[in-house]
Amino acid sequence: MQYWAHVASTTEIRKIKLAKNDIFEEAKTENEKPDIKFDDVSLNYKDHPIYQNLNFDLAYGKKILLQGLSGSGKSTLLNMVSGLLKPSHGTIKIGDENPNPAQSVYIPQTPWLFQGTIKDNLCLGESFTDQQLLQVLSEVGLADELGKDPLNRIIHPEQEDLSGGQRQRLVIARALLRDRPIILLDEITAALDEKNSDDIREILYNTPKTIIESAHHINFDLTKKYGFESWMIEDHHLVNNK
Ligand SMILES: Nc1ncnc2c1ncn2[C@@H]1O[C@H](COP(=O)(O)OP(=O)(O)OP(=O)(O)O)[C@@H](O)[C@H]1O
Ligand SMILES: [Mg+2]
Repeated sequence: MQYWAHVASTTEIRKIKLAKNDIFEEAKTENEKPDIKFDDVSLNYKDHPIYQNLNFDLAYGKKILLQGLSGSGKSTLLNMVSGLLKPSHGTIKIGDENPNPAQSVYIPQTPWLFQGTIKDNLCLGESFTDQQLLQVLSEVGLADELGKDPLNRIIHPEQEDLSGGQRQRLVIARALLRDRPIILLDEITAALDEKNSDDIREILYNTPKTIIESAHHINFDLTKKYGFESWMIEDHHLVNNK
């Protein structure tokens, strides 16, 4: 997704041939219900340790709320599960495979969009029917907010012609379109009001899939309803508070 954002937002880069990138070459998943297994995983940024010797086995369908201070490593963990970041030491397996983009949808902390139609921003080169696209826009409450012909509306993200909450909901709609077994959520409701946050969380949580969510603003009634476990990042480790 990050690679796409770079390509989509700069004309010059579009002329460069796609670089060899093994995580995209491996982008496939055979297992529809994979576990996530961390085996002795450590992650340092140069000499700055973030995680040390993480060992856990997360069964398919588990729902995890990831908490910790700013800078403690929440986004880093999500990046490792998505395959965008490789551990400095140890191995991560999703089912029997190395982490790769076909296994998860990752809604990042900063929504990224590019100049183009809403349809292009949702599809990212994949095919969906207009009916599917309108359905997800409606699920995130955007169907009536984006004008008469929302799919063909051209957006200019650098001109901020969408509000922060609208941008975030568009990125969430993009994720809802993709049927992948793992959902990674990084502060997804920071720009949303309480009502929108709760509505969108219900849509995302109501799934048999695995969810790992990093969030500051938490609706504990909802996380309880959907059986979330709470994990804290403490001293470079993950502590399960159940
Ligand atoms: N690419 C990088 N290179 C070097 N250091 C990094 C890099 N990305 C993150 N860091 C550092 O790693 C630490 C963990 O970052 P991370 O983004 O995972 O924290 P976070 O828990 O998500 O924080 P926040 O709640 O503010 O989003 C921080 O100290 C950050 O400065
Ligand atoms: Mg973060």
